[in-house]
Amino acid sequence: MKFLVTGGAGFIGKWLLEKLPIDAEVVVIDSLDEQAHCTSRDFSPELKARATCIRADVQFVEDYKEVIEGTDVVIHLASQTGTGQSMYEISRYVQQNANGTAKLLELISRLEHKPRRVILSSSRAVYGDGAYTDGQQVYYSRGRRIEDLQQGIWEVLDDQGQPLKSLPMHEDHLTKPTSVYGLTKLWQEQLMQNYCTSQNINLVTLRFQNVYGPKQELGNPYTGIIGIFTNAIAQDNPLELFEDGLVTRDFVFVGDVAEAVVKCALHEAPLSSIINIGTGQATTLIDVVETIAEIVGKPAQYSISGRFRVGDVRHAIADMSRYEMLLGSWSPTSLKDGLSQYLQWYLGQKPLSQESLQASFEEMERTGLLLSKRG
Ligand code: UD1
Repeated sequence: MKFLVTGGAGFIGKWLLEKLPIDAEVVVIDSLDEQAHCTSRDFSPELKARATCIRADVQFVEDYKEVIEGTDVVIHLASQTGTGQSMYEISRYVQQNANGTAKLLELISRLEHKPRRVILSSSRAVYGDGAYTDGQQVYYSRGRRIEDLQQGIWEVLDDQGQPLKSLPMHEDHLTKPTSVYGLTKLWQEQLMQNYCTSQNINLVTLRFQNVYGPKQELGNPYTGIIGIFTNAIAQDNPLELFEDGLVTRDFVFVGDVAEAVVKCALHEAPLSSIINIGTGQATTLIDVVETIAEIVGKPAQYSISGRFRVGDVRHAIADMSRYEMLLGSWSPTSLKDGLSQYLQWYLGQKPLSQESLQASFEEMERTGLLLSKRG
């Protein structure tokens, strides 16, 4: 079998490459983008030994069109991933995520033999704030209002101002992204869906929750909170929790994510579906900090600042029933085990500089996207 993995040198790609069948031919396309590869801007020796590696941006198909004929499965991971950053670097996110996918599809359309299957790494960001209930009916949030957030009203409210209960995200729920990043992931999904249906190509769209684990780029201040929080605790740096610290996320271990991708890639029967990838467990920001602190062996010190990022969703948790129905049982790594593996790896790395994290916050403040509760 021949696989094309875009973004194959990235965080999830590195894990995936280790799990693809040893006899499979693999081509990796990766731009080695500065932000996502600040520690090293080269393909690792392991990657070079495993795959044909081409340094190219997916948008520039001329740079890699020669090597993809005969591909059986395309795994499209290449993406810009910062939710907050997407709200001011709008055209970059649109170019790289939406236009990148469009160009890749144009290239596929010119191939003599079309791939059997395409796997798209999408995000739970496409659901936006997701579905809520008052115990009787299901409601979709229109997105939290800035005026409410400025008053410290963090939960999603109904029209009478009563807080609603968040429901696990199900693939059949409406998609209502609250960030530019989420929008670009939805466009990727729709572009792929439209094209693959017209060509009878199996499309598996995987909506990842918050993926974490060893090999996540530490030098990048936009790469998720597990790195930011571990760094703060291990280095005794200030740790700021936005809102009231009770935002929830579903943290899924990267090894489990890579296994799910491989399972979809190798699935023999036709498989075309949108599938969530998470653990089904909601964890608050405070609980994450406390679990990391316990593993590091230091007290959990943090400030709850009342600041908030425009475009953030309040609660996110995956409903994993479709995965189990289509692909069998799902027993994800517990947060504690995953964080212990993360810490072991982290201790051998160069920590993220506090300056680059502060600079990313200042950039968001300047652009009006990191605001504070009033009073
Ligand atoms: C993350 C990913 C996104 C992915 C999505 C779903 C990043 C940057 N984003 O988005 O690519 O598609 O999961 O898989 O990896 N927070 C603090 N203090 C901080 C930084 C953040 O309290 O210092 C808060 C944020 O306001 C947010 C939560 O922590 O409420 C999580 O933030 P983040 O890790 O950036 O991820 P998501 O926005 O959930």
